[in-house]
Amino acid sequence: MDTWDGFVEACKRCRNCSLCETRTNVVVGRGTNLKAPVMFIGEGPGEQEDIEGSAFVGRAGKLLDLALEALMFEPGHYYIANIVKCRPPGNRVPSEAEAQACLPWLRYQVKYIKPSIIVCLGSTAARHIIDKGFKITQGRGTWIEMPGYFSILPTYHPSAVLRDPGKKMDFFQDLKQVRTRIQAQDLW
Ligand code: URA
Repeated sequence: MDTWDGFVEACKRCRNCSLCETRTNVVVGRGTNLKAPVMFIGEGPGEQEDIEGSAFVGRAGKLLDLALEALMFEPGHYYIANIVKCRPPGNRVPSEAEAQACLPWLRYQVKYIKPSIIVCLGSTAARHIIDKGFKITQGRGTWIEMPGYFSILPTYHPSAVLRDPGKKMDFFQDLKQVRTRIQAQDLW
């Protein structure tokens, strides 16, 4: 895995957990800039992502894209990945074993991209990246600093916002904080 392309090829051949049996495609991620200042991390591919082989291209992704556009994010600002790269059947939460089998791929991506900001989309991402017991309703919107590495901002998963429109304002405000930091810290 000396190069990004080598990493992608290795990822596509992965058989480290049983999700490989039911996947259509491995969803490595989505983004045009492999040195993007921001990395969004979701839970795992859904049906549409599995079909297309790209991250957040279904309904939740459309909401995320709309919010990012409204806040004047540019495509080069961000890269999007997930805790697991293969769709859990029926969109269930990935098991601990599946997440642990997949996390080395995500760690490679974080080391390669070196984002200044990581946004955890939802509790699955927050629990694997921040803390096992993380409560998204309590902790969202508050920055967690990892000096010398990155800052982490947990927020709602866009699917949760679709299910409960009452979460829309908080979600939007959280993304706005990210946009403000990109500008204030001249990350772009
Ligand atoms: N939900 C996720 O967590 N990730 C995707 O890529 C799509 C939906």
